[in-house]
Amino acid sequence: MRITVFDIQAMKESGQRIAMLTAYDHPSAALAERAEVPMLLVGDSLGMVVHGADTTLPVTLDDMIRHARAVVRGSSRALVVADLPFLTYATEGDAIASARRVMQEAGVQALKLEGGISIAPTVRRLTELGVPVMGHLGLTPQAQHTLGLRVQARQAEAARRLVEDALALQDAGAFALVLELVPAPLAAAVTRRLRIPVIGIGAGAGCDGQVQVWHDLLGLFPGKSPRHAKRYADIGTAIEEALRAYVGDVRSGAFPTVAQSSGMDPEELSRALGG
Ligand code: KIV
Repeated sequence: MRITVFDIQAMKESGQRIAMLTAYDHPSAALAERAEVPMLLVGDSLGMVVHGADTTLPVTLDDMIRHARAVVRGSSRALVVADLPFLTYATEGDAIASARRVMQEAGVQALKLEGGISIAPTVRRLTELGVPVMGHLGLTPQAQHTLGLRVQARQAEAARRLVEDALALQDAGAFALVLELVPAPLAAAVTRRLRIPVIGIGAGAGCDGQVQVWHDLLGLFPGKSPRHAKRYADIGTAIEEALRAYVGDVRSGAFPTVAQSSGMDPEELSRALGG
């Protein structure tokens, strides 16, 4: 049985912190599942970390569906949440059509939408129609050209608006909220103010849970991870070393050996070659 939005709510109520992680394909979902990650996010960050784009804006519904379907197939217990991509929920009609495709074609259990008061009516409508919605405030990368890529809501007026946005999403029926790059004291205050779970990324330790991007957590990028990320492994270096060893073995003839090859009766070979 999969974890439900009610289980996630119960985790907040019992004070159990929630670990969420992005996953983009079958093997990452299966590994996260073995590590008992309760909530997986098929984030539109896949446009950047998997497809090499500069922003999340080029990600399409088809991209999301293909990756989300693989994550659903690779997991059996985790609650799988998928992002609706840039401008696929600009109107209520668009949101319903996009939600229908991602829920039906990928089989995810919930969707994440970026934005506050302005999208609250859409969140309400989707929730009424049976779509669990996770909100996303603070740095919302789909709006990076208007917001900039920096910590949000540092000043009182912007912080007040963020609290209003969070309350509006909760009132509209959102089951949880992501806060990205928000000052820790503000994120902690929002977490205390809301009934629904607040999942932080670069928002300090006072949230109900944390979400991290797979590649940041595992060191799959060359160079430094973002400041808000913690590297739990250096898999990128391990992969590079393994690939160098493979290239070296092919060049030197050390791979393959008889262990990786199949034999043939010499007579059969000679008959085949007309000898
Ligand atoms: O797309 C994504 O991976 C996200 C997380 C950073 C929260 O939205």
